Amino acid sequence: MLKVKNLSAGYDNVPVIFDVSFEINEGEMVSIIGSNGAGKTTILRAVSGLIKPFAGEIEFLGKRIDMLPPHEIVKLGIAHVPEGRHVFGKMTVRDNLLIGAYTLKNDDEVKKTLEEVYEIFPRLKERENQKAETLSGGEQQMLAIARGLMSKPKLLMVDEMSLGLMPIFVDKVLEILKEISRRGMTILLVEQKVQEALEVADRGYVLQTGRIVAEGSGKELLESELVKKAYMGM
Ligand SMILES: Nc1ncnc2c1ncn2[C@@H]1O[C@H](COP(=O)(O)OP(=O)(O)OP(=O)(O)O)[C@@H](O)[C@H]1O
Ligand SMILES: [Mg+2]
Repeated sequence: MLKVKNLSAGYDNVPVIFDVSFEINEGEMVSIIGSNGAGKTTILRAVSGLIKPFAGEIEFLGKRIDMLPPHEIVKLGIAHVPEGRHVFGKMTVRDNLLIGAYTLKNDDEVKKTLEEVYEIFPRLKERENQKAETLSGGEQQMLAIARGLMSKPKLLMVDEMSLGLMPIFVDKVLEILKEISRRGMTILLVEQKVQEALEVADRGYVLQTGRIVAEGSGKELLESELVKKAYMGM
């Protein structure tokens, strides 16, 4: 579904990811793991068109997308749930969700999608008229993911959902992502929480200072010397 080939990207002509290649098949849940500053967010920004790659190619459903503006990429079916959530605090939960639906064609479709999203996130339905800023951190993360789903994406990319959450909420949100995956969604998860992210993933990639240094099934990576040494202090 997504094919990234020899991607280099960065800021002000300074590359921070180098020759990155990976792919995601339809229906898979794939994790890219790496420490602070490894370049995880930069990869997602390049895929969603927020920054232009210096080199390489990005293909989605057989079509080059690396020249397209972000709104075209959303329309093709890629949703990017950004690091830090960025929900609109003064707006209600429901209005935040409706913003996510801006690419949908008609009101019926919006209504139907909202219902589907509420089915996955019953807690957001209970709080639909509450201002987003009054939600707990975990609930705001759920809202950010739910808003991504409102565009009816084919690929959902979630950046560092664990940030600032207590372990119990991290597990809860991952459980929900797993459920979304079981319903057929293709998911790219980017995380510093290495163990959790590899446990839920079908496959994973390890990113170190801008380069992919290992890949494999979630289980293979968890058992690899590299991951144990570099991220789990073993
Ligand atoms: N807007 C920017 N301008 C200049 N440099 C940037 C910018 N955003 C990120 N960088 C640099 O790019 C490198 C990779 O950052 P990136 O945000 O992709 O890492 P990350 O893996 O997502 O890290 P974290 O786990 O902390 O979110 C870092 O050295 C960072 O300082
Ligand atoms: Mg990041």
